[in-house]
Amino acid sequence: MRWQSIFPALIIVLLGTFVGLSIVMAQTTTKDTNKPADGAKDAPSKDTPAKDGTKDGTKDGAKDGVKKDATKDGAKEEWLTDEGMEKLMEGIQEEWDKLKAAQRTKVSKDASDAADKLAELAPKMLKFHKADVRDAEDYKDWAADLEKQAKEYSKVAKKSSWDDAAKCKDKIGSSCGGCHKKYRPKED
Ligand code: HEC
Repeated sequence: MRWQSIFPALIIVLLGTFVGLSIVMAQTTTKDTNKPADGAKDAPSKDTPAKDGTKDGTKDGAKDGVKKDATKDGAKEEWLTDEGMEKLMEGIQEEWDKLKAAQRTKVSKDASDAADKLAELAPKMLKFHKADVRDAEDYKDWAADLEKQAKEYSKVAKKSSWDDAAKCKDKIGSSCGGCHKKYRPKED
């Protein structure tokens, strides 16, 4: 037998060995990755919160007490409806009550926290939908005064300067009263 006739057979044997080895290797690897399946853990949760649908429904978002007016350049400006204004005022009242309580008990952190919130809420009064009110100079002054005094109060309350705080507190009270006297509708 000449070596030329063995050659193709040799090739086939070599190839066969190679393919066989590959299959064995592949099986080993597959086995490794085939760890016990715990697919359930990764399954997408069915409890994904459903869209609450608050976006639509109410026209003009009036539910949130926010009314949208188109301004001249087409941008949307958001105004507080009567209801929104009431909510804002109730929030202001809450912080005001906390501030007064903290002033009595001399709890510095509570006092300054309440004042910080008052200062944050005050400028929102300028979003009142009644343009004749929100654009009135004295209305804007009362709102600015509340913000300024609340910031000042926060500063002195942090230092537990309770006498200075008491003075600021009185000024805050005057801004509530001053603005209400003119702009808060009379109760029937
Ligand atoms: C810049 C003006 C202005 C200032 C300052 C102001 N308010 Fe008012 N407040 C109003 C107006 C206007 C209303 C009436 C809103 C409405 O009912 O449309 C009102 C209403 C209220 C109401 C009634 C809300 C309701 O449920 O009807 C409370 C409570 C209140 N304010 C608390 C306060 C407190 C406390 C302060 C001071 C820390 C204060 N406000 C400062 C303008 C002001």
